[in-house]
Amino acid sequence: MDILGSEQHKIIHGDALEALRMLPDNSVDLIFADPPYNIGKNFNGHIEKWKTEDAYLEWCYVWLDLCIQKLKPDGSFYVMTATQFMPFFDIYLRNKIDILSRLVWYYDSSGVQAKKYYGSMYEPILFCVKDKNKYTFNTDDILVEAKTGAKRKLIDYRKSVPTVYNSEKVPGNVWEFARVRYRMDEYENHPTQKPIALLERIIKASSNEGDLVMDPFSGTFTTCFVAKELGRNFIGIELQDEYVKIGLRRLQLAKEFKGEKLQKEIRTFETEKLAAANTLQLFEGSNGKYIHSKH
Ligand SMILES: C[S@@+](CC[C@H](N)C(=O)[O-])C[C@H]1O[C@@H](n2cnc3c(N)ncnc32)[C@H](O)[C@@H]1O
Repeated sequence: MDILGSEQHKIIHGDALEALRMLPDNSVDLIFADPPYNIGKNFNGHIEKWKTEDAYLEWCYVWLDLCIQKLKPDGSFYVMTATQFMPFFDIYLRNKIDILSRLVWYYDSSGVQAKKYYGSMYEPILFCVKDKNKYTFNTDDILVEAKTGAKRKLIDYRKSVPTVYNSEKVPGNVWEFARVRYRMDEYENHPTQKPIALLERIIKASSNEGDLVMDPFSGTFTTCFVAKELGRNFIGIELQDEYVKIGLRRLQLAKEFKGEKLQKEIRTFETEKLAAANTLQLFEGSNGKYIHSKH
């Protein structure tokens, strides 16, 4: 296990369970855990599928307990998994921690999800706190538009003094954020990258500047990226070299890893653009002026 980065911004390159055991108890303000879902995704050649569902859940219960142990007494814990496993997480956790919200991250998808059943268009997230009487929740930092007040400008005549409806409100428990697509700036080469916007809401709501945010299954390190942008400290744990490289680059913690220069992968449409620019330059070079070419 390697520890990379600085005191405030740390990547632990290794197994989540081992790394979690190493951290001091009651030390983290906010944990966001987005583990493998046991649905056969390919994480850089490693297929995440346990022999049985019970084996997956047994593994999850170990790190769920560790996360609770590492959380400060006033800390918050957000956890994701596949829809079919979330009921088990819910039942397991409700005796150990307060589950305040059962969130649904909903996204649209133009692709055909399923033909003989209803395709999956959401992922569940549990929002839990160790102490329901003392936890961080920065309401003002995550307000969204309340349509009745903001768009329809209605007045509530049931009040003793008629009042306009609020134009902002705390988001409900169904969150719509676009998934990260290939052409988006934030895209990294990872099968389950979470959007910056999703993590922004979570980190703004449930932590303050200078707090410690931890992600035991960092992937592309979205959590750590947003935490850093928002002035939080972070610990990101990840097993795979390829994803640690993404993290080191995205978080500007290193320019090289094991002698390899860290660069963002060029996407096909960027190669096309580059090729088109090069072709133009060639024309310009040979004639001394631009010739429009169809590329
Ligand atoms: C669902 S993805 C996380 C995606 C991440 N939230 C993002 O926005 O990119 C789960 C990640 O956990 C990593 N992983 C799987 N088993 C692990 C383990 N035992 N310890 C640490 N990381 C692990 C995988 O390599 C994968 O990148």
